[in-house]
Amino acid sequence: MRIEKQRYTERFGSVKINDVQKVLELDSGRKAAMPLKEAIAVDKIEEDVIKDFEEKMAIVIPIKNEKLKLFEGVITGVPHECLIIVVSNSERKEVDRFKMERDTLNQFCHFTQRKALIIHQKDPVITRALVQAGYADLLDEHGKTVRDGKSEGMVIGLLVAMLMGKEYVGFVDADNYFPGSVWEYVRCYAAGFSIAQSPYTMVRILWRYKPKTSGEVYFRKWGRVSETTNKCMNSLISAKTGFETDIIKTANAGEHAMSMKLAQILPYASGYAVEPQEIISLCEDYGGVLPTANQKVARDGIEIFQIESRNPHFHEEKGTEHLRKMLLQGLSTIYQSPLCDDETKRMITRELVVQRALKRGEVPARPHINRPPHEVNIKGFIDFMAERLDSYSALKEE
Ligand code: GDP
Ligand code: CO
Repeated sequence: MRIEKQRYTERFGSVKINDVQKVLELDSGRKAAMPLKEAIAVDKIEEDVIKDFEEKMAIVIPIKNEKLKLFEGVITGVPHECLIIVVSNSERKEVDRFKMERDTLNQFCHFTQRKALIIHQKDPVITRALVQAGYADLLDEHGKTVRDGKSEGMVIGLLVAMLMGKEYVGFVDADNYFPGSVWEYVRCYAAGFSIAQSPYTMVRILWRYKPKTSGEVYFRKWGRVSETTNKCMNSLISAKTGFETDIIKTANAGEHAMSMKLAQILPYASGYAVEPQEIISLCEDYGGVLPTANQKVARDGIEIFQIESRNPHFHEEKGTEHLRKMLLQGLSTIYQSPLCDDETKRMITRELVVQRALKRGEVPARPHINRPPHEVNIKGFIDFMAERLDSYSALKEE
């Protein structure tokens, strides 16, 4: 695979945010014996290097009541070397959608001879494992079951990936129409990790086009929600550095991946606030404005890559209300950050009122934030789950 080298990087304290890098070639051919002339501007990532990173990566797929056909397509697109971890919050009552997902995954693993795990977010065993870890943040107010939310599913997937000894974790939504896009996202993750210098690395995907289906398929460059969230996040950073910037282009990137070292030290905001909160938290903890959270991490630095994929992003459209909720949750993480200045706050409330996600005079509520995994007893979770892991495995040893 060939991607553009990082040409432009902005630093916010110890956080290095790289500007968008485009994919130039999805398949870059055989390994060359000679050094390449293009190396100043282009990174060629060899197939076996990509495979090496994929082998160390778990792909976590959060899913809630998606069409089975879409889920089936998504798992088809995950490169073979990756471990698939599905965390489902799908219905189990009238129709057992979770069972259907499990059957689909089992069949896939059987015919492709690969390993995968599938877990239900509300499984009482997960609750007990989280209690063992002292990670009640993920539980509802009664402490009985895991809260609803994509973010809570992601954190469970992350913990299971740690249990499986993976060094990287990537997230892919289950409602993606194109298996080819999924395949490319994972390769972009691997490419980003291969060029990273720091052990604390994140790769976020920028969709080249996000088509909408209204009559003819219309290829819009970005969605409105991402555009607004990016704008407000850039405004927060600009106010702090004193230089106007538009460096953030992936504030809402659902498709993103992290080194486990980074994943462990990040807090995770509930629901759809999770992706913007990751960047906000890094700016708070390592931006140099507030006290630094961890000196060692600050010395190594944190690298964020934003890679623009070639395949269009085409997923289930869940309606205006869903988009409003997403906008509100995402912007609340910026608004409620101690880094946020008054002008950015005004920009946020104005946007939310215009897009009818908030009434005039209201302010976005503080999101629920789950502590970083490294602050809880991860080993407690791992030990408890390790004994029970067999029942979550999609490919049973026969
Ligand atoms: P969007 O793509 O960002 O508009 O948001 P989606 O509603 O498509 O959600 C992203 C992914 O998270 C999809 O694969 C959903 O099925 C999944 N998801 C949504 N809510 C939950 C949840 O409560 N738990 C889990 N595990 N997954 C969820
Ligand atoms: Co979606």
